[in-house]
Amino acid sequence: MSNGPNTFDIVILAAGQGKRMQSRLPKVLHRLANRPLLEHITRTLYELIPDKKPIVVYGHGGEQIQKTLGHLSVEWVLQSKQLGTGHALQQALPYLQSPQVLVLCGDVPLISGDTLKKLISTTTVDALGLVTANFPDPSGLGRIVRDEAGHVQDIVEEKDASEKQRKIKEINAGIYFFPTELIKKGLPTIENNNAQQEYYLTSILSQAIQNKYPIHTIQPNAIEEVQGVNDRIQLSHLERYLQKQLAEKFMRQGVTLSDPARFDVRGDLSVGQDVTIDINVIVEGYVKIGNECVIGPHTVLRNVILGDRVEIKAHSIIDGAEIAADAIIGPFARIRPGTVLASRTHVGNFVEIKNSNIGEGSKINHLSYVGDSKIGKQVNVGAGTITCNYDGVAKHRTIIGDHAFIGSNTQLVAPITIGEGATIGAGSTITRDAPPNQLTLCRTQQRSIPHWQRPQKKEE
Ligand code: UD1
Ligand code: CA
Repeated sequence: MSNGPNTFDIVILAAGQGKRMQSRLPKVLHRLANRPLLEHITRTLYELIPDKKPIVVYGHGGEQIQKTLGHLSVEWVLQSKQLGTGHALQQALPYLQSPQVLVLCGDVPLISGDTLKKLISTTTVDALGLVTANFPDPSGLGRIVRDEAGHVQDIVEEKDASEKQRKIKEINAGIYFFPTELIKKGLPTIENNNAQQEYYLTSILSQAIQNKYPIHTIQPNAIEEVQGVNDRIQLSHLERYLQKQLAEKFMRQGVTLSDPARFDVRGDLSVGQDVTIDINVIVEGYVKIGNECVIGPHTVLRNVILGDRVEIKAHSIIDGAEIAADAIIGPFARIRPGTVLASRTHVGNFVEIKNSNIGEGSKINHLSYVGDSKIGKQVNVGAGTITCNYDGVAKHRTIIGDHAFIGSNTQLVAPITIGEGATIGAGSTITRDAPPNQLTLCRTQQRSIPHWQRPQKKEE
């Protein structure tokens, strides 16, 4: 960008409560795509201007904000009483060092890097830059009042606006590029004689006009970029908008989505080529999907790495797992954190796996619980197998060697080791280690009672 990072400071106003959210949570901690509103803005800024730490004016719910967002690389400045946007920016004045300052609102989360770049690069050092947009329904927002020649004359809040001014569709986005000198001189003198008795940042405009600073306006590419979040309805609209943007981004990267409106990404997703994703798939946390994977409908992928050609069938929940190439999972599988599945593993319906390593080509196809286990290669785990890993106090491990065969309905009481090539007879409760290459079983002998008669119901 033509303006170097040292020619301007950045301030994000985020001290307000957000009354209309009807929430105990400060507004900027509400989430879009599972990321706090404030973090959307800081991420956009880091991408655009990586070497500049934004100043965040915080206040309402300060402790909560710093607890949740303490990891952000920002300077925190406290506004202990929320007396208005002008008062908020005033708190940051002592920290401003550059000739210009970019001001953003913590509750306008989806402003794009492109729009900010345009604002920064087209506003000259002596001018006041404003982002405005024409809203079909501008209610609740500050209106841009222009004279007949089209010059900006004023910004009027809805509550202070005349009947005629309320009809104006052009709104103030709350995103500004100021000459630092203007606000250093002007902010301490603004007054709160308005409907809300607040110190409005927008009051600085009349001073700018009086002092002959040119007013320069730019518009974003999409109005959603400057839509504020004041209530949960607006939050939900922006969530849909953001999800649509994300879906389109992944389709452009070569992903086939059965329905972009039924695909939700709430984290960081990276995808290989020719991935197919069916409806109602939710992606959370850090997820990496290899080439040619097929993700079935109604699945959740949370903190997952998938190798190439993995197939996840319908209704599976995969959480905290690494799954290697050519594995087939589900339908109705639940994979829990700490699980590593090697290539060509098969995990079928109603199988739960937690904190376990499953070797290449092994199969656990039906109705099983495998926890805290290490299973070798080419093992067959029969239907209804349960690793009894918990004795009420501690968790214990189950080790199963390569090529073992675990008969159906087996309980493996951990800690226990099943040797390589061992076979476990169906219906066994195994409490001691089973040697390699032998049949081990543990069940009472079958017998038949001849001439036995079922009890009969008496006729009345
Ligand atoms: C503000 C603008 C309005 C604009 C709209 C765009 C003013 C007076 N009005 O109105 O022209 O159309 O944004 O979304 O500026 N904040 C503080 N401390 C305070 C008050 C607010 O930090 O004392 C922060 C809030 O956390 C929020 C931002 O400033 O992130 C905007 O405040 P808000 O009260 O939402 O202003 P609006 O009424 O939306
Ligand atoms: Ca607002």
